[in-house]
Amino acid sequence: MDKIVIRGGTRLRGRVDVEGSKNAALPILLASLLSAEECIFRNVPNVVDVRTTLRLLEGLGAEVERLGDSAVRIRAERLARLEAQYELVKTMRASFLVLGPLLARHGHARVSTPGGCAIGGRPINLHLEGLERMGARVELVEGYAQAEAEELHGARIYLDFPSVGATEHLMMVATLAKGQTTIEHAAREPEIVDLAGALISMGAQIRGAGEDVITIDGVERLHGTDYTVIPDRIEAGTFLVAAAITGGDIDVVGAIPTHLDPVILKLREMGVDVREHDHGVRVIGNGRLHAVDIKTMPYPGFPTDLQAQMMAALCTADGQSVISETIFENRFMHVYELNRMGADIKVEGNRAFVSGVAQLGGAPVMATDLRASVSLILAGLAAPGTTEVSRVYHLDRGYVRIEEKLSALGADIARVRE
Ligand code: EPZ
Repeated sequence: MDKIVIRGGTRLRGRVDVEGSKNAALPILLASLLSAEECIFRNVPNVVDVRTTLRLLEGLGAEVERLGDSAVRIRAERLARLEAQYELVKTMRASFLVLGPLLARHGHARVSTPGGCAIGGRPINLHLEGLERMGARVELVEGYAQAEAEELHGARIYLDFPSVGATEHLMMVATLAKGQTTIEHAAREPEIVDLAGALISMGAQIRGAGEDVITIDGVERLHGTDYTVIPDRIEAGTFLVAAAITGGDIDVVGAIPTHLDPVILKLREMGVDVREHDHGVRVIGNGRLHAVDIKTMPYPGFPTDLQAQMMAALCTADGQSVISETIFENRFMHVYELNRMGADIKVEGNRAFVSGVAQLGGAPVMATDLRASVSLILAGLAAPGTTEVSRVYHLDRGYVRIEEKLSALGADIARVRE
């Protein structure tokens, strides 16, 4: 198993290019199951979760071909099976979203239910309720969701919570359902808009993606496409924080500023110099950070996927910050590792009270999930001494060679085999 070793205290400088969005690419790759024709997707990040998704598609019998490092060709003309196994779904929850596209095109499917994960229980009730409103019969048997439908029809669906996954899942299914579907209180993340963009490029009729109500008029079939995925706003946000926490100067090329509004506003409130430009966002650290309060919310609120990174930065801010996590019930695992590095963080319910200390110190720490792992790396970049982050397999799920990118910005960082 790999670990990452960092000798901190260097101000990072230079330019970094943002990869394609993991959280947009995953559902977009699965959307290929809605068509019998060839789909080419570009700017697809070469991360573990993408490779798992391609293995899943191949396992179903789709033709999958990598075209270089960041493009793939998929053709799901004839599938050998309509089942996604537990072994695969347990490694990546997003694979549960194959259920809808298989059902929509083939009338039945059997997919392992994802179960909980390190950051929360993550139920799928909104997914299943939405499918049933469109006429599917769904049974949960031995840890699998078995779904079937003679004919799916349009429906009016209200989501109790603007779930990203449920919005993506139901929007995909509705593209082939008979009649009109509306998804109310829908998720509005840029990844939703990008998935809708890919589906529309395949011939789907979708209006309102990115707004509170999405309207989909079902069509007979979808055709192939050649579609380019948006940049990864969470990877971009991670590098913005890397500049802030090290007092450095980084130009994050490819970042879309509007996708990062709440993050940029908070960084400015912390006293960081943030400059948006045509090709990205440049961040220049500016002395000791100011404490701020953060509350994670569905988009366009502050993204939960950048909560851990911001917490790492606020560990050495001037004053006390209160971080409220409202999306996932167990997303403070990094707190205990940051405290091992000398941070002063107390957790009460879904709030973390971060009392800024003068400096963190290097220490051996353990990653518990994808975003927690990168927050420990950021803390290690700022902390004098040596930090060793173990279990970095979490990191590889969503970041492409991050240690190489940080090293190119001047960090003393390396991946070593344990
Ligand atoms: C997506 O997860 C992202 N994953 C997550 O990113 C991200 O944290 C999350 O959206 C929120 O922004 C991908 O896109 C692959 P949700 P998803 O459904 O779709 C509850 C990362 O680090 N809920 O919006 O699973 C749920 O329990 C990952 O890249 C129900 O109650 O998120 C949670 O508390 C981590 N019932 C809340 O909604 C449901 O049926 C948000 O979940 C569905 C969700």
